[in-house]
Formats: sequence, structure tokens, C-alpha cells
Amino acid sequence: SWTTGNVIEEQVAAIREQVGTRRAICGLSGGVDSAVAAALVQRAIGSQLTCVYVDHGLMRKGETEQVEKDFVGATGVQLKVVDAEERFLKALAGVTDPEEKRKIIGREFIRVFEQAQAEIIADEGPEVAFLVQGTLYPDVVESGGGTGTANIKSHHNVGGLPEDLEFELIEPLRKLFKDEVRMVGQELGLPDEIVQRQPFPGPGLGIRIVGEVTKDRLDLLREADAIAREELTAAGLDRDIWQCPVVLLADVRSVGVQGDGRTYGHPIVLRPVSSEDAMTADWSRLPYDVLARISTRITNEVKDVNRVVLDVTSKPPGTIEWE
Ligand code: XMP
Repeated sequence: SWTTGNVIEEQVAAIREQVGTRRAICGLSGGVDSAVAAALVQRAIGSQLTCVYVDHGLMRKGETEQVEKDFVGATGVQLKVVDAEERFLKALAGVTDPEEKRKIIGREFIRVFEQAQAEIIADEGPEVAFLVQGTLYPDVVESGGGTGTANIKSHHNVGGLPEDLEFELIEPLRKLFKDEVRMVGQELGLPDEIVQRQPFPGPGLGIRIVGEVTKDRLDLLREADAIAREELTAAGLDRDIWQCPVVLLADVRSVGVQGDGRTYGHPIVLRPVSSEDAMTADWSRLPYDVLARISTRITNEVKDVNRVVLDVTSKPPGTIEWE
């Protein structure tokens, strides 16, 4: 019968058998799947695994530290962090088109990741032969082509890789659904903040700034997003909502009055949604007092933001993300 203990035992044995005395690399995205896949492979082969985390500077507040401290603390995994913020910002300078942003972020990610791989191979030798991927059962079914899910955006899954690499894949989650992956992660001792994480797009905050992506705007959005997440968590709503993108309308300004005078600032959009699988979604009817707290705090604490608006569109017609 299916138990997380059985799954772990089975996978650990299979991975040991597959890898032998060779070595593996795993890209960590900060998301649940790559974290659980890495933890499982770490359990199997320990220091024969090296994880790579590309910090593209588009992460939310505290996310990089969460990987560096909490994930490493829980697993003891060997981690290489690549700080690529400047490179991504440079590549994104002047770009406002959502698809172009996604393509640039996906392309730069692959380049940075490949460079890190090359460095690891230079350090550790040619026995680096495996790549760990957090592929889930629904991904397997989808890429089998049968399900006809319409991809209206190019979904660059950070962690996704080009096809011409001469690595063998290790995909320990191939038979699992998301909730099973969370249970396995929990059993492996990963912290709740990682295992219960809500979905977050690979291109990160880069596609939550309507307009050009700059360091200042990212910092501002990170603050607003952190406030919204804090208040939603404090209100005990994390399990009720699927996710709540927080979006900065960087190209829009409106008049406000704050402190001693008139301001001309940017709006922040809250996009709380309820969903089963992200294919369709409804806007979450959040309690007014929670919305009020988020709004007050964001306009008080985040510079240049003088308005908070609520997105009350279901999907369809609106996608969950704004870009
Ligand atoms: P949309 O905006 O298409 O989003 O309704 C559906 C779900 O997918 C997430 N999303 C992404 N996830 N890479 C990802 O890994 C991406 O490029 C990406 N774009 C959207 C989104 O957060 C939502 O959960």
C-alpha cells in the first residue's frame, strides 16, 4: 500500500542503484518540487549531489535566505548559490513586453545554470553524470501530449533545461501528485514554509511589474508582497487561497494625499485567487478587515505607493498573473 515511507525507501534504493559512485546536480528554484526532489536524492546519495540555486534577483523577500539557511539546514545538502541579479537586470533593461520578459528570463536562467554546471564538472570531474528534475506525474502526462492544455504563455519553468545536455535524468517524483510530493517532503523533514508553499512563477517578480523591471521597483514590490503575505498568513488564510500575486503598476500613477501633501504614486494590485489546478480560478472573497490591513500597511510602509486595488476577475477571462 502507498505510504510516504515506502515511496522514500523505494526511491532511495532506485537512485543509489542508478547513480552508483557517480555524481548528480540539481537545480533548486525555491519551489516545492525541486526542493523535495533534491531532498530525496540527498537522502540517497548525500555528498554525491550538488544543488545549484540561481538567484536572479526576481525572488520575493527572504526566499533566497530560505533556500540557503532552512533548506540546507534541513537536508545538509551541498549548495552552490549563483548571484546573477545584475546580469538579469541588465538583460531586462528597457523591456516591457511580457512575453519578451519571459523569454529573456528563461534564456538567461539556462545560460547561468549551464555555466554553474560547467564549473561543477570542472571541480568534481567527469563523473558528474546526472541531473535531478522535480517532474511530477501531471507534467509527465501533459508532455505525453494527450491532455491538450492550452499554453497561452510560454511557461519557462525555472529549473527547465535544454534538451541537448548529455546528462541522465533522475526524476524521483514522476509518479506523484502535488499533495503526495508535499507529504514526502514533510516526511523528509523539510520545513512547512517550503513544503506548503503556494505556487510562484519561475520568472518571479519580473512578470509582476507591469512596465520595465528595475532594482528599485523590485525592492518596492518585494516590500508590498511581504506585507500581503504576512497579513494573509496571520489571518490564517494561506490554505484557503491558491495564491495571491501582488502586482506593481509601474507605468501608472494616480494622485493621492499622504502626510502633508499631494502624492503622485503607483498602484499595487492584490490578486487573491481560489483554484484547484490553476487552469481556472475565481477571485477570493477575502475578509474586508484583512484587505483593509493590507491596504493600510502597504500605503503607509511602501514608498511611492499611494493606492491599493483589488482584482475581482475570475480566470477566464483574466489569467492569474498579470503578465
Ligand atoms: P496564469 O497566469 O497562466 O498562471 O493563470 C497559472 C499558474 O501558473 C503560474 N505561472 C507560472 N509558473 N512559470 C511557472 O513556473 C511561469 O512562467 C509561470 N507563469 C505563470 C501562476 O503563478 C499560476 O499559479
